[in-house]
Amino acid sequence: MIKLDGRATSQSIRQEIAAEVKKLQEKGGKTPHLVAVLVGSNGASQTYVKAKVRDCEEVGFVSDVVRLSETITEAELLQEVQRLNADAAVDGFIVQLPLPRHIDEQKVLMAIDPAKDVDGFHPENLGKMALNLPSYLPATPMGILDLMDRYNIETGGKHCVVVGRSHIVGLPISILMGRNGYPGNATVTLTHSRTTNLPELLRSADIIIAALGKPHFVTADMVKEGAVLIDVGTTRVVDKSKKSGHRLVGDIDYEKAASKAAYITPVPGGVGPMTRVSLLKNTLLAARHK
Ligand code: GUN
Repeated sequence: MIKLDGRATSQSIRQEIAAEVKKLQEKGGKTPHLVAVLVGSNGASQTYVKAKVRDCEEVGFVSDVVRLSETITEAELLQEVQRLNADAAVDGFIVQLPLPRHIDEQKVLMAIDPAKDVDGFHPENLGKMALNLPSYLPATPMGILDLMDRYNIETGGKHCVVVGRSHIVGLPISILMGRNGYPGNATVTLTHSRTTNLPELLRSADIIIAALGKPHFVTADMVKEGAVLIDVGTTRVVDKSKKSGHRLVGDIDYEKAASKAAYITPVPGGVGPMTRVSLLKNTLLAARHK
C-alpha cells in the first residue's frame, strides 16, 4: 500500500509555482493577485480563507480578503462581484461558500466573470471542462487529478466509482475521469443517495472517489484488493484531546481499508492540501492570460 501524500506533493507544486512567479516578475509580468470574498462569520469558511491567504503569501502572490456582513443583501453582494470583475488589478477571485440562506448562491456564481472564476464554478467553465476545452478546473477535482498524475496511477480502462454528486466535487470529477486523456479514460459510475447497489458497485471499483461527507461510510468489505482509494471527506468531529477541540474524519475507514488498497489518501494530508494548491494554479493561469 502506498500512501498518497498530498502534503509533500502540494509542497513541490507550490515550489514550482513560486519559481514561475519569480520568472514572471523578472520578465516584467504581473504578480498574480487573488481576492477571496468572505460573507459572515462561518468558522470553517474563515479557516479556509485564512489558509488560502497564507498559501498566496508562500508563493509570492498578492491577496486580499473582502469581508462582508452576514446581513449583506444579494444586490449588494452582486455589486461587489461586479466591482471585482471590473478591477484590472485582480486576476481571479472566489466567493467563499456557503453563503447566508437569503442569498441565491447560483446567481452570485453566475455573476462572476468566467475569466476570473478561479474556482471553476461558473457554468461556462464547467461546460468547457465537459467538452475538454481549456478552462479553470474546480479545485478539488484538479487536486485529485494532479495527485494521480504525480504518482503515475494508471486510470485508462479502469472502473472508477464516484460516491456523491455535488457540483463542487462528485459531478465534475466523474466527468474528468471519463474524459479522453490522462488522468482519465476511465469507465465511470457516478453514485448517490438513490443508488441501490452501492456496496456491490464499490467492490467492482478499481478506483473509488468518496465525496459524500459521511465519516467512514466506505468500509473495508466494500473495497477490492488493489483498489485506489481517494477520500475527499473532511467531517469535523469533536475530539477533546486536540487543541482545536475537533479532528477531521474521512469518508473511508482508513485503518481497515488501507491494507487492501494499492494507493490511499490519508485524511488529513491527502486531497485537502491538493485542493488548496489548485486555486494557486488557476490564479497563476489567470495572471498569465492577462
Ligand atoms: N467552500 C468549500 N469549498 C469551497 C471552494 O472550493 N470554493 C469556495 N468558493 N467555497 C468553498
